[in-house]
Amino acid sequence: MSATAPARRVLSGMRPTGRLHLGNYYGALKNWVSLQYEYECFFFVADWHMLTTGYEDTSKLPAQIHDVLIDWLAAGLNPGVATLFIQSHVPEHAELHLLLSMITPLGWLERVPSYKDQQEQLKEKDLATYGFLGYPLLQSADILIYRANFVPVGEDQVAHVEMTRECARRFNHLYGREPDFEEKAERAVKSLGGRNSTTYKQLRRKFQESGDTEALERARVLVTSNSRITVADRDRLLGFLEGGAVTILPEPHVLLTAAAKVPGLDGRKMSKSYGNTIGMREEPDQVVKKLRAMQTDPARVRRTDPGDPEKCPVWDLHKIYSDDATRAWASEGCRTAGIGCLECKQPVIDKVVEEVTGLRKRAQEFEENPELVRSIVAEGADKARDAARQTLDEVRRAMHLRAE
Ligand code: TRP
Ligand code: SF4
Repeated sequence: MSATAPARRVLSGMRPTGRLHLGNYYGALKNWVSLQYEYECFFFVADWHMLTTGYEDTSKLPAQIHDVLIDWLAAGLNPGVATLFIQSHVPEHAELHLLLSMITPLGWLERVPSYKDQQEQLKEKDLATYGFLGYPLLQSADILIYRANFVPVGEDQVAHVEMTRECARRFNHLYGREPDFEEKAERAVKSLGGRNSTTYKQLRRKFQESGDTEALERARVLVTSNSRITVADRDRLLGFLEGGAVTILPEPHVLLTAAAKVPGLDGRKMSKSYGNTIGMREEPDQVVKKLRAMQTDPARVRRTDPGDPEKCPVWDLHKIYSDDATRAWASEGCRTAGIGCLECKQPVIDKVVEEVTGLRKRAQEFEENPELVRSIVAEGADKARDAARQTLDEVRRAMHLRAE
């Protein structure tokens, strides 16, 4: 039996830093939840990535992984729709990482901005390790092993996806050649079937003659959404669009999250390392306490001083949580000193309490049933491994290594 081509795929990962906060929720998770209904999605907990900076004490990893999974499930990631798993449960990532390491110039890794930045920022740790240098390449393997088309990530990860594209290009260039490629590709075009093969030829010509990237993208969709062709033919057809080699590893695209900016309690970006967070499952009493103490417009010292919402982090919360009427009331009251800051915060406090209460409730089912969480990720790892093995098989074959 020959495997057939999958639909458009999304993949993303998150390091298991422990319980997630509202910045993680609005910055990434909510987006993942909506993507799961539009694409075939793979989401994983990147425990190996955690080791690249936290190799000294690994004892808390299991609990941190568990906490992240519970937050995912509470947020609405649906294991019946998306594939949820833990990176280290799919050792295929490691084999691809090793194979890619053979063809990756050191300069590519040294040039990734996060390499030097993180070493500077985490001075207390010795990050002059092989694993830390390889961090972005491990990420490339994570993405390429699923032949993901889209990778939803924040700005800070764009350089990693960019390097992944370079890796894929280099791999295809080195190993995607076959002696009678043109002939085989022409035959594959025919196997698309009458109308589709005509459309494919038209779109290919359009791209090759005038560099029309929209035509290229449409042709790719035509190929990847066809479920009757073999994987080998799909790879030929994708490669034939642009040149003379098989596309074994397709180049992924960043799916930039148009995320709401979640301010931390001190007004800086919400981040665990700043200690300014509100947890997705924070105790309601704590939420109230933290928000009441939250930073406001520093110019508003006394109740009688008018303020400027644009200089106040609470205003960013109003943008997320409040309706137009409440926002108008807050903005007007602030500028005229008609309301005090505590008054202004109250509608936000109510909404955040309501939100964390809902999340806590949904998390409870999973907290009380660790066996359920275990079975969800076990099933996820099985599904992920099936997909990963298919790619690895093709990779091994292309490199003249043992294929299963
Ligand atoms: N590096 C990512 C982060 O720190 C996590 C990650 C690991 C990832 N592998 C990935 C994200 C693959 C997207 C795709 O957030
Ligand atoms: Fe911020 Fe509201 Fe206080 Fe104005 S009134 S400074 S918007 S908390």
